[in-house]
Formats: sequence, C-alpha cells, structure tokens
Amino acid sequence: MITDEIILGTKGITKYYGGICALDNVDLEFRKGEVLGLVGDTGAGKSTLIKIIPGSINKDSGEIFLEGKKVEIDTPKDVKNLVWKQYIKIWH
Ligand SMILES: Nc1ncnc2c1ncn2[C@@H]1O[C@H](COP(=O)(O)OP(=O)(O)O)[C@@H](O)[C@H]1O
Ligand SMILES: [Mg+2]
Repeated sequence: MITDEIILGTKGITKYYGGICALDNVDLEFRKGEVLGLVGDTGAGKSTLIKIIPGSINKDSGEIFLEGKKVEIDTPKDVKNLVWKQYIKIWH
C-alpha cells in the first residue's frame, strides 16, 4: 500500500564527469510502498543516480534524506553504518 510517508528523498543531486553533466539538480521522493520506474534515454543519468544513493558513486553536490532526516552518504560504508544504526534502534 502506498502511503504519504516519504522514506527516501534526494534534493539537488548534481554530478559531472569532467565537463559532462550527468545529473543536474535531481529531486526525488520515494514513498513507503511505492514502486517507481526510472525511465530515460541511454546517457540520461539513471545508473549514476541509482549508484549515488547507496554511495557507490560520489555526487558533486546535493542532499539525501532518509525518513526526513538529512544523511551523509559518500561511500557504501556510510549506508552500512546507517543500516546498523536502524537495526540497533529497532532491537532496543
Ligand atoms: N564513469 C564515467 N566516466 C565518464 N562519463 C560517464 C561515466 N559514467 C557515465 N558517464 C556519462 O554520464 C552520463 C550519464 O550516464 P549514465 O548514468 O550511465 O546514464 P544511463 O544509465 O541513463 O544510461 C552519460 O553522458 C555518460 O556517458
Ligand atoms: Mg544505465
């Protein structure tokens, strides 16, 4: 069931590869229970965006929000730490 609760969001995600702009200020909202399709031509930036969210690719600028809170995700390790934090919160 789709709810109004935004669990994951991005604001102003921008990424350049040298002089090539792969992502220009991307804002996205993922609601709980929602299935989103990411559609675009080859080279539109789909893979770059999807890899930036888990920290596999470094963004140049922009913000990522998890359950409304800004999180610092620069590497996959940052995501691992966030998952652990969440797990510990539920466990206690
Ligand atoms: N590692 C890379 N080095 C240089 N340019 C890249 C690299 N990865 C992607 N690009 C460029 O960034 C743009 C977006 O690519 P990409 O995210 O792969 O798009 P999509 O997945 O939508 O096909 C394209 O212009 C692509 O050529
Ligand atoms: Mg791709």
